[in-house]
Amino acid sequence: MKLRLLKLTLFVVLINFNYAYANEDQIELKPGFGRDVVMANCVMCHSLDMIQINSTFMKKDKWEATVNKMRKVMGAPIQDEDVAVIVRYLTQNYGIE
Ligand code: HEC
Repeated sequence: MKLRLLKLTLFVVLINFNYAYANEDQIELKPGFGRDVVMANCVMCHSLDMIQINSTFMKKDKWEATVNKMRKVMGAPIQDEDVAVIVRYLTQNYGIE
């Protein structure tokens, strides 16, 4: 009887664990020009929710600074020509102006 309860508990824990991870993968950015470039460049090191969480207070210059920080400080391999596209997309879709 105790064993059954233990199995059931384990089962529930595992299901929840799975669910949390599945949710993580489902983060979808808003559709728009530049979305693919962001998806290609910003998911290597952290989840896309980094973008969503920060979006409440980001102006264009802040996004610019963040993208540059990701490149220069974190070492993100983002091409020069992609920077403007990424910053424009983030400002339009996840910015406050
Ligand atoms: C090379 C790995 C790497 C890549 C690629 C990368 N990031 Fe990051 N990012 C990090 C790390 C590490 C942190 C956490 C650093 C910290 O705590 O300040 C972070 C933090 C952030 C934050 C939180 C605010 C901040 O300044 O710390 C935002 C927003 C962010 N990243 C956005 C992006 C965007 C947008 C892209 C794509 C242009 C991107 N990241 C690509 C490594 C990366």
